[in-house]
Amino acid sequence: MKTDLPRHDAQQRENPDPHEQGRPVPKLVLLTVTAAFAWAIYYILTTQGDDDPALGDRRTLSTLMAKPAGAPGAAGAVDGAQIYGAQCVACHQASGAGLPGVFPPLAGSEWVTGKEALAAAIVLHGVTGKLTVKGAAYNGQMPAFKDKLNDAELAAVLTHIRSQFGNSAASVGADAVKAVREEGKERKDPWNGDEELEKRK
Ligand code: HEC
Repeated sequence: MKTDLPRHDAQQRENPDPHEQGRPVPKLVLLTVTAAFAWAIYYILTTQGDDDPALGDRRTLSTLMAKPAGAPGAAGAVDGAQIYGAQCVACHQASGAGLPGVFPPLAGSEWVTGKEALAAAIVLHGVTGKLTVKGAAYNGQMPAFKDKLNDAELAAVLTHIRSQFGNSAASVGADAVKAVREEGKERKDPWNGDEELEKRK
């Protein structure tokens, strides 16, 4: 701004030269930061984690050693829950309760918890036609899994559905599935509901 220009008194009064003003940090911000620090210190002082790095990695040799194949949690073991999630959950639902009138429940189903060979036969070949599950009639299409899942995978998913959703039937081995697969290897069609399956119960 040029200062050599004549200025009116009034104008000078109304436009004081700008100057820097002190701008205190808002109280709320101060309070929040102080509270956060206080909490952090309190947390550090009171939390005694058992993860003291000085103690080192306390995994034992047996934890690190490969589990025998097939043992739960072993690398490469077939995970029944995972297969259920990939192949069955869309119809029978995560809870195993199915969808009333459309997809029958696996929870508490006599087909699931009955003979292991029967459950295996159902999942291997699929079902069409009227099927009664827990007293309710269904008339849908259960796909066949004989070409999609191998014996170990079928055994794992059968074991899963027999032990989840409140069910507590014995686990199923891959050899049992293999036997049922062998027995039905000529079969091309799905089971015809109650008509064929009732007598296998
Ligand atoms: C496309 C939908 C669908 C998929 C996927 C499916 N199911 Fe089913 N499932 C059905 C239907 C529908 C029935 C009833 C068939 C009928 O009414 O004839 C059934 C019946 C059954 C039954 C006998 C009845 C009962 O409720 O106990 C079992 C056991 C079964 N399914 C297990 C499985 C398993 C295990 C899988 C995954 C590997 C699977 N299903 C995948 C639709 C499906």
